[in-house]
Amino acid sequence: MNLEQAYIYIIAGIFILFVIILCYIYVHLISALFIWPPTIPTDKRTANKMLEAAKKYFNQQQVFEVAELGVGYGGLTKRFSRYFEAAKFTGIELLFVPYLFSKIYHRKNPKVRLIHNSFLNESLSGFDLFLTFYIRGDKKLPEKLMKEAKKGAIVISNNFEIIGLELLEKLEVKYLVDKHYVYVHRV
Ligand SMILES: C[S@@+](CC[C@H](N)C(=O)[O-])C[C@H]1O[C@@H](n2cnc3c(N)ncnc32)[C@H](O)[C@@H]1O
Repeated sequence: MNLEQAYIYIIAGIFILFVIILCYIYVHLISALFIWPPTIPTDKRTANKMLEAAKKYFNQQQVFEVAELGVGYGGLTKRFSRYFEAAKFTGIELLFVPYLFSKIYHRKNPKVRLIHNSFLNESLSGFDLFLTFYIRGDKKLPEKLMKEAKKGAIVISNNFEIIGLELLEKLEVKYLVDKHYVYVHRV
């Protein structure tokens, strides 16, 4: 390869990278405009609080089914799947970029199944535990959970209480100057 060809490859590489970054930003701006909440991952402190809450209802070796509704980049499911060794996980994500990221992130974990779709179009009937970080005041998800989910299934929600389900616990997550809550519900 001569110097001229090397320059062409480098410029083409930079251009492709630039296009990928633009597509990524575009997808996220679109998602922020039309899909709410956008893909903001649950922070570590809250994720630990959610895990601690789940430990009260499920044993580490228990065989059970978990669904993360809006799995995003898959970090929360990862944390749960590390602890609950025998559980099976289904992550449902509407947006392609986070779905793809999750798919790559979990590629070596046979316990995790990922679905690229709206959780409103998937059956929620087979799960014992739901994890979510969804929107306050949304009626479709609570209605669907009440209609389809197993009686007694646990729903742990970051930041949003799910009105209509039985509230078991409201757990505080403290930050330096702020606090927010994890809500534990039963269907
Ligand atoms: C705030 S993020 C939380 C991500 C992840 N659950 C976490 O806690 O780290 C919410 C995610 O839900 C996804 N989402 C929103 N509506 C959805 C729907 N109807 N079906 C599937 N995913 C949805 C968004 O694309 C976004 O990735």
